[in-house]
Amino acid sequence: MPAKPKPVRELKTVSVEGKPRYYEPAPDGIDLESFRKVVMSRRSVRKFTARPIPEHVLNDCLDMAMLAPCSSGLQPWEFYIVRSADKKAKLVKACMSQLAAKTASELIVCVARTDRVDEFSRKMLREWPMPDVPPLVKRYYQLIPYNYAPGPLNSFAMVKKAAISVGGLVTAVPRGPFTHSEVQLWAAKSTALACENLVLAFRAHGFDTCMMEGFDEHRVRKLLKLGDEAMPIMVVAAGERAEDGVFWPQIRFERELFVHEV
Ligand SMILES: Cc1cc2nc3c(=O)[nH]c(=O)nc-3n(C[C@H](O)[C@H](O)[C@H](O)COP(=O)(O)O)c2cc1C
Repeated sequence: MPAKPKPVRELKTVSVEGKPRYYEPAPDGIDLESFRKVVMSRRSVRKFTARPIPEHVLNDCLDMAMLAPCSSGLQPWEFYIVRSADKKAKLVKACMSQLAAKTASELIVCVARTDRVDEFSRKMLREWPMPDVPPLVKRYYQLIPYNYAPGPLNSFAMVKKAAISVGGLVTAVPRGPFTHSEVQLWAAKSTALACENLVLAFRAHGFDTCMMEGFDEHRVRKLLKLGDEAMPIMVVAAGERAEDGVFWPQIRFERELFVHEV
């Protein structure tokens, strides 16, 4: 059996009715103004200096990316750090030679995977960070792989959709993800959240980024030898912001267009 990974946080428990219960109270002392500064100073940077990103910074940012919330804890992301000069040149071309890609110190292809639900559900149960897996959790991870398996030509998905819509007449039911494209969307949501963590982490380290979906997906797939089960979500260009690296002021429309009280 593989070694259990170190829990991200210290395992603290309290006793509730004689049984140990995991205990993680809300931390205090978070510096709101520092957080705000990170969020507000993040811009899409299209021109970087030649200063490299130290390896420990890159690794720290990737680690923070992977602390993003993810559906069912199943971490459907992958990050390809494109390092070889040849591959990097091809990736820049695949990014339509955007200036951000051409000048970036690092190019990170962020990929959503749809095919690891089964493997990671089993891994989750094997590596559960408490001595006992609660029965509900166990059942959940035993069932999930069936939920997210669309079957050939979405055949399982269609059967599940039909059954669910009958059940849905009387109660609230999950309406997906069942089809292949719904499962892709499922993986893309969590991966995009990791991308946001990634760019904020770079900013907190004093570096900048440009998220790019302006790339030729076919070429990126070929370059990284990605199959149907892997979907490149975005390429993150990262580096030190050039003085003239931001091309215009940030534009956000009035909040009334987006925030609704109902
Ligand atoms: C999913 C996504 C894809 C993007 N693709 C590109 C891109 O291909 N090229 C680019 O220059 N900017 C790209 N951007 C950056 C946006 O243009 C930018 O976030 C937006 O104009 C707002 O500016 P700000 O990031 O400075 O706030 C992308 C952003 C997102 C979130």
